[in-house]
Amino acid sequence: MSKHLLEVKNLRIEFPTRRGLLTAIDDVSFHIDEGEVLGVVGESGAGKSLTGAAIIGLLEPPGRVAGGEIIMNGRRIDNLGYEEMRKIRGREIGAIFQDPLTSLNPLYTVGRQLTETIMTHTDMTPTKARERAIELLTEVGIPAPEKRVDQYPHQFSGGMRQRVVIALALCVNPKLVVADEPTTALDVSIQAQIIALLKKLCRDHGTAVMLVTHDMGVIAETADRVAVMYAGRIAEVGPVRQVVKQAKHPYTEGLMGSIPMIGHTGEKLQQIEGSMPRLTNIPTGCAFNPRCPKAFDRCFKERPNTIDVDGTEVACWLYDKEAAHV
Ligand SMILES: Nc1ncnc2c1ncn2[C@@H]1O[C@H](COP(=O)(O)OP(=O)(O)OP(=O)(O)O)[C@@H](O)[C@H]1O
Ligand code: SF4
Ligand SMILES: [Mg+2]
Repeated sequence: MSKHLLEVKNLRIEFPTRRGLLTAIDDVSFHIDEGEVLGVVGESGAGKSLTGAAIIGLLEPPGRVAGGEIIMNGRRIDNLGYEEMRKIRGREIGAIFQDPLTSLNPLYTVGRQLTETIMTHTDMTPTKARERAIELLTEVGIPAPEKRVDQYPHQFSGGMRQRVVIALALCVNPKLVVADEPTTALDVSIQAQIIALLKKLCRDHGTAVMLVTHDMGVIAETADRVAVMYAGRIAEVGPVRQVVKQAKHPYTEGLMGSIPMIGHTGEKLQQIEGSMPRLTNIPTGCAFNPRCPKAFDRCFKERPNTIDVDGTEVACWLYDKEAAHV
């Protein structure tokens, strides 16, 4: 049996459209270990959110998991019914989205939302659950929690609201939290605080995190491992130090070139020329070939699968040593 907390194996997500099936996620595999932070990066449309949504069982129809498996704690969860998945969501997997208001009900006080979630997933009494809610609000850094617990989401600022969402995601101690760009909608000045809070809480509770972000700086500081996605596929996945400092996939190299260096504020950011292909127009062979400065014949004919290179998985023909001997 797998020792990984979460294992995504050969995941494929499809959308039926009038012009046929669109494959949005194609053969994506990665894992997350207990207590680990996996950063997920890649440009807009790469498939980060769809992958996260599939894990928490909130893929919106007509999108569907058409292949592969998602295994949480040794149990397959991609084929569960709505009710079973609802139990897992919350108890085993928490979710944090970009906009805190998608997770909060505007008509309920934050205390009610926290206590209801706690009571759904545990056998705490209402009094105990309320005490726990106040404790959680304290833990996520909300001032005057005894008073705030009876207030409504609109009475909180954006940053404070996202703190409530973090409390809600962690309230029954899930093993994994899927955080999809948790700070993108917030004021730049408070983004770092929220990331630091998430990181600290998850470390304190031993919670693993799948952290989707566009911010390579956040990845470098927060993640243990990084998955780089491109056009619905994994380009590279490995330990953060290796991926950030010695990127192997040419796409990752391009992405890393776009991190502003501390002390080099005037430096122009490197851009990867061109744009990611549409799902209807993914080139044959390596999906990155039209933009790749290192592309060679094989890249236009065959699609590379991931290969282990010093502990990093890389989907690039440059690393296929066997073929290099041919
Ligand atoms: N309902 C849908 N029907 C058809 N295609 C869809 C649908 N939802 C998403 N897609 C496509 O799936 C691809 C992946 O989308 P996804 O939202 O996962 O990207 P992302 O990496 O999260 O991007 P972003 O950084 O902008 O959030 C995109 O090309 C998108 O157009
Ligand atoms: S497989 Fe070829 S085109 Fe794709 S990233 Fe590697 S070198 Fe570039
Ligand atoms: Mg997204």
